[in-house]
Amino acid sequence: MDITEETRQLEAADKKYIWHPFTQMRDWEKEPLIVIAEGRDCFIKDIHGKWYLDGVSSLWVNIHGHRKKELDDAIKEQIDNISHSALLGLSNVAAIKLAERLIRTIRDSEPEKKYAMTGQQEESGPSSSLSSLCKVFYSDNGSTAVEVALKMAFQYWKHKGVDGRHCFLSINNAYHGDTLGAVSVGGVDLFHKVFGPLLMKTFKAPSPYCYRCELGMEYPACGFTCTEKTEEILKAHHNEIAALIIEPLVQAAGGMIVSPPGYLKAVRDLCTKYNVLMIADEVATGFRRTGEMFACRHEDVVPDIMCLSKGITGGYLPLAVTLATEEIYNEFLGEFSELKTFFHGHSYTGNPLACAAAIACLDIFEREETLKNLQPKIKILEDRLAEISTLPHVGDARNRGLMAGIELVRDKTTKEPYAWEEKMGWQVAYHARDNGLLIRPLGNVLVLIPPLSISHDNLDRMLEIARDAIIAATS
Ligand SMILES: Cc1ncc(COP(=O)(O)O)c(C=O)c1O
Repeated sequence: MDITEETRQLEAADKKYIWHPFTQMRDWEKEPLIVIAEGRDCFIKDIHGKWYLDGVSSLWVNIHGHRKKELDDAIKEQIDNISHSALLGLSNVAAIKLAERLIRTIRDSEPEKKYAMTGQQEESGPSSSLSSLCKVFYSDNGSTAVEVALKMAFQYWKHKGVDGRHCFLSINNAYHGDTLGAVSVGGVDLFHKVFGPLLMKTFKAPSPYCYRCELGMEYPACGFTCTEKTEEILKAHHNEIAALIIEPLVQAAGGMIVSPPGYLKAVRDLCTKYNVLMIADEVATGFRRTGEMFACRHEDVVPDIMCLSKGITGGYLPLAVTLATEEIYNEFLGEFSELKTFFHGHSYTGNPLACAAAIACLDIFEREETLKNLQPKIKILEDRLAEISTLPHVGDARNRGLMAGIELVRDKTTKEPYAWEEKMGWQVAYHARDNGLLIRPLGNVLVLIPPLSISHDNLDRMLEIARDAIIAATS
């Protein structure tokens, strides 16, 4: 599309009718607009014909690239059968096949060392494995996957006859979505503070944010003071806590905060010790973003409940899954009149088109040996981040797998941040945009999460544009 009457009308209609998420609409009305019309591989094209590298995988969802033939074909094939039927009181072929396939994928990503499930700690050692997550509950986005997990954990204890477990333990800087339950366990003040009066009671443990340790400690000399504080909360309040919820290895929307090795496992051990369920929110980290199929796999951790979404369909359609153990599932079994039913569901739960895309997405992982191909890309990213970290206004450049965050600071020595009103992250993003890279910052943290399928050359190019944009905006 050229700059025609049609493109002008589209831009005007956007500003007239659409209220964009997480956006100050007064600024939006004044700013130049990018309207995407097409995508291919790791690029997206706007209505004026300009191509951009999709540096954040269209909000961290795209895995195998845009217009991936196998994904396109799987959805088209499903359309020829049926696009949607409900999962309430019925089932559908694609939802069944995906559930079976997902469980197989989990089994295949099995850790060799195994950890005990809550309530089943054994003297002789751990007793369960990642494949104990064997029940699939569908919903349609990351927030609902979390909402389901919280309600499931709460009701589990009720059915067990354990009273008083009305609270959750979450981590400062966490982001689990925008529904009220998910916001309650969130810890990003900028997003969450305004909703304070609406939220349920939660306990907050320190964030494993080593670059800016809220406890004033230095890693590794600290010896994990943050988990000691977490233990203090659990010791005092475990009888009130239904579950601890955590983003394994990377607190993503909180600023791509990478936890130090061993932190996740230490948290798992605390949940086991204090008999509190562990919910792993792998919405952002799942599906090889961190290298392994699931981030928990890096530390051989087995949560009691796991939330998946974003990359599950390769970034094609909204779908989410909350996985639970048989132990949890069994507590919901009973006579109809006992009202042990899990009363939760959505109109599009188990949508067949999305499930067909998810099956195709898992097939591609297998066929293209994505994991093997990922290692050299992670190396390129890490080498380039090391260079970028030497820039005068880069305080910290961190990554886990192909999830990276570059934290900009006014003063590298004192770590003084740019005032958030300066929108320094956005200044960099605008420079990058001019040079053909689309990124979306989180405050002063530049986020780089390309599709896993990105080529070495394009990855290099992405990092070069990002570097140049940082220099241009901060000098
Ligand atoms: C860890 C995590 N959980 C939950 C969500 C919410 O997902 P959604 O935006 O699909 O509701 C996000 C979104 O970024 C996330 O990063």
